[in-house]
Amino acid sequence: MTENKKSKGTYYITTPIYYPSSNLHIGHTYCTVMADAVARFKRLQGYDVHFLTGTDEHGLKIQQIAEKKGVTPQEYVDEIVAGVKDLWKTMEISYDDFIRTTEPRHVSRVQAIFNKMNEKGDIYKGTYEGWYCTPCESFWTESQLVDGKCPDCGRPVQKAHEEAYFFRLSKYQDRILELFEKNPDFLKPDTRRHEMEEFVKQGLEDLCISRSTFDWGIQVPIDPKHVIYVWLDALTNYITALGYPDDPALFEKYWPADVHLVGKEIVRFHSIIWPAMLMSLDLPLPKQVLGHGWLLIDGGKMSKSKGNVVDPVVLINRYGIDALKYFLLREYTFGQDGVFTNEVMLKRMNFDLANDLGNLVSRTTAMIEKYCGGIVPDASTEDEFDRDLASIAVGVAPKVEEDMDRFAFNQALENIWVLVRRANKYIDEKTPWLLAKDPEKKAELDTCMHNLAEALRIISILIYPYMHTTTEKIREQIGAEGDIVWEDAFRFDLMDHNKVVRGDAIFPRLDIDKELKELDDLKKKQMEAAGVAVEENIPLKLKPEITYDDFDKIDFRVGTILSAEKHPKADKLLVFQVKMGTEKRQIISGVADDFKPEDMVGKKVIVVANLKPRKLRGLESKGMLMFAETGERCEMVTTIAEDGSVVD
Ligand code: MSP
Repeated sequence: MTENKKSKGTYYITTPIYYPSSNLHIGHTYCTVMADAVARFKRLQGYDVHFLTGTDEHGLKIQQIAEKKGVTPQEYVDEIVAGVKDLWKTMEISYDDFIRTTEPRHVSRVQAIFNKMNEKGDIYKGTYEGWYCTPCESFWTESQLVDGKCPDCGRPVQKAHEEAYFFRLSKYQDRILELFEKNPDFLKPDTRRHEMEEFVKQGLEDLCISRSTFDWGIQVPIDPKHVIYVWLDALTNYITALGYPDDPALFEKYWPADVHLVGKEIVRFHSIIWPAMLMSLDLPLPKQVLGHGWLLIDGGKMSKSKGNVVDPVVLINRYGIDALKYFLLREYTFGQDGVFTNEVMLKRMNFDLANDLGNLVSRTTAMIEKYCGGIVPDASTEDEFDRDLASIAVGVAPKVEEDMDRFAFNQALENIWVLVRRANKYIDEKTPWLLAKDPEKKAELDTCMHNLAEALRIISILIYPYMHTTTEKIREQIGAEGDIVWEDAFRFDLMDHNKVVRGDAIFPRLDIDKELKELDDLKKKQMEAAGVAVEENIPLKLKPEITYDDFDKIDFRVGTILSAEKHPKADKLLVFQVKMGTEKRQIISGVADDFKPEDMVGKKVIVVANLKPRKLRGLESKGMLMFAETGERCEMVTTIAEDGSVVD
């Protein structure tokens, strides 16, 4: 089965290149699955797509891990990268190229790029004095540290003092600001662009681009004592993989990239440093950088030491690639963080896949076999239900196109599921089992079977970018042969006596309690095998105990947030206007790092209403909004409706 071959032009999409510092987890998988869905969608629409992914193999962190394991860095990365490639193969990720930064094609091109930037006068030698975060491979100045730690990951930083080469990043400050101002689509979501604009406005310092205290990296061509800073090495992958500068055929065809899909914490590198490097090389800039959110566990980051890393391979082996991809794309909103739990995942798989889609396929194929001898009959009647089904069916594709233009994968799938659910409801409305009892209703029964087969055919096309193996299974069962053509999702008249063969259930129903227990047991076994102590039931570290009388003094009220904005004089504070009953008041909270003001408006929140007022940086705060610590971040204490949804 192939996709549409007509070309609407080129489309170049990239994922970040992953650090092979350990096996990839569900968070990395999330990014690659999104990129794969876009690549497949664009190909289906007729674009000539180039989809690049790869691994970022140099740097101090990798060298240190290899040393600990007693192998060479190359031996270490070779093993992990083989695992990365295996994972993408298992998941049938449709990348066109996989670049490793240790490959000769990359190494020589990075050196050529360094030379070009040097010839441009953008590189000079100096002394680096500051701080370095090894896990993030990031340089920080004293003033950028937060509580003496890395502002990105919160981990300790090391003092660095060494002779180094610098890139004149400061020279490009105005052009980068202009880029954000003149081209608001360059960096999405908007909140990330605003953050980056603020960052640039505070002043860009020249960037240290070489290290001389370790050697696992690409040599600086003009000074072999130094290796090139791993981020400069890594960012160039997007053009070295296209052959820049010595083999320009692919480069000329696909550059500039349409989209760099990256996680929110590396937006800074992609939207400031990368454009500046391209400006130095006099090359066009990528059309868009998209910063996606993080998948969190228990409200915090996944980490090996906490034993909460979710292994995609375990989930794929149990539920299949399409169920996992569907969940990742349907559950989370692009750009926002989301919490991963096995329970939410299993419920989605049962409700949306086994119940909705799986049932539709098995009911339809079983009925066509039973009532029509396995051949899709002609449609010769029409009533309001038939018309409604047909009009909904052909209306989904244009909506999906709009959703995909905004990278709103969850919305696209929701729109497709409107049709899946409509088709199931159509069966209940038409009651084919009753029509089958009345020979006079044969034509109506045939129409019903025909329309269901049409609906399934359209669904099989619509889901292709997200669940291509399910597309194939459905098409096999309904006898839809030939290429998958996007335009065919706009038509309701293509089924023509196709041969239907009922197959196995495409998504078997899961026993959620049993699955939860087995996933838990598997996790424990994996942790034991990896020699990681599973931390269980560790008492919380709390403030001193209080009495009931202390507690009883607090007057809790429910308030609605009318507005929220940053405190003009304090980065960490948000100023809220809150309504309780008819009273409106101003309350200030130190949660600017955890919440975006625009996300807070309209939320219902619990307020400590009788707290003594006080002034915070010149503004009065009357009361306190309730937030609680998960251990990693703070969450808002809000009100919950009877159906379990958050009232906001
Ligand atoms: N090597 C750099 C990228 C260089 S690109 C020129 C790097 N690698 S990484 O392996 O640490 O992260 C790669 C990507 O995975 C990042 O975009 C990051 O946001 C993403 N994720 C890692 N953990 C994640 C989650 N828990 N959730 C979602 N994505 C996360 O940074």
